[in-house]
Amino acid sequence: MGKQKFDGYADKYDEWFMKNENLFTSELRLFEKVLGDITGKKLLSVGCGSGLFESYIDSSNIDGIEPSEDMGRIAEKRGINVIKYGLIEDVDLPDETYDIIYFNGSSSYMEDLKPVYEKSLRALKKNGKLILLDVPKESAFGFMYLLGKSLNTYDHEFLEGAMPELPYPLALASSGVWHTTEEKINVLKELGIKNFDFYQTLIKNPLYTNEEPEEVSEGYKSGGYVAIIAEK
Ligand SMILES: C[S@@+](CC[C@H](N)C(=O)[O-])C[C@H]1O[C@@H](n2cnc3c(N)ncnc32)[C@H](O)[C@@H]1O
Repeated sequence: MGKQKFDGYADKYDEWFMKNENLFTSELRLFEKVLGDITGKKLLSVGCGSGLFESYIDSSNIDGIEPSEDMGRIAEKRGINVIKYGLIEDVDLPDETYDIIYFNGSSSYMEDLKPVYEKSLRALKKNGKLILLDVPKESAFGFMYLLGKSLNTYDHEFLEGAMPELPYPLALASSGVWHTTEEKINVLKELGIKNFDFYQTLIKNPLYTNEEPEEVSEGYKSGGYVAIIAEK
């Protein structure tokens, strides 16, 4: 495969979270909340990256798919069973196999979500859960990344005094295809999903997000990191 969006960024990606420790803790709380008790369950992480979040939970039953070898090799060391180095679009998944399939931040790097979610729903057992965690396009973080992307810098007078100390790497913000939460909900509704739950974190403005870890709350209309739980 050719160069992937995250190739060359594996260290920077993990390092950014480690430097933004409180932001990471807030996202990790959301991640753990929405996965719930995974004992005895079979999980698939689509775009598992370096397996950073999974390194804080029991990853022994987690399969992963990851296009970036740089990222995936680290995930393997962290205990994820990487079943494919490639794009989810190019993978055949077995029917009715997983209890939970989740996309932690990876939908934000995919153009056409419908075929990918459709494929994932087929691979879920009955009543299984498709869980989508992302920075919503409509959030303050989404605006910040899109402004950075269009200016090709965060270091601009428009953003003076408004930026967090260590913003997400510009190249990764710029390669994102930022979707709104409602866009994803509508895709899932078109695929027949009726039961949804929503949770969010990173409610504070980005400038203050890393001051202290935040709690998880219900809903999706305020957070800079939002989880959709869709039941098959
Ligand atoms: C923001 S990172 C999240 C990584 C990891 N899930 C985490 O939470 O730390 C997005 C990941 O999605 C992967 N990705 C991008 N496009 C993808 C695709 N079409 N299929 C599968 N994974 C993809 C990237 O390589 C990257 O590792």
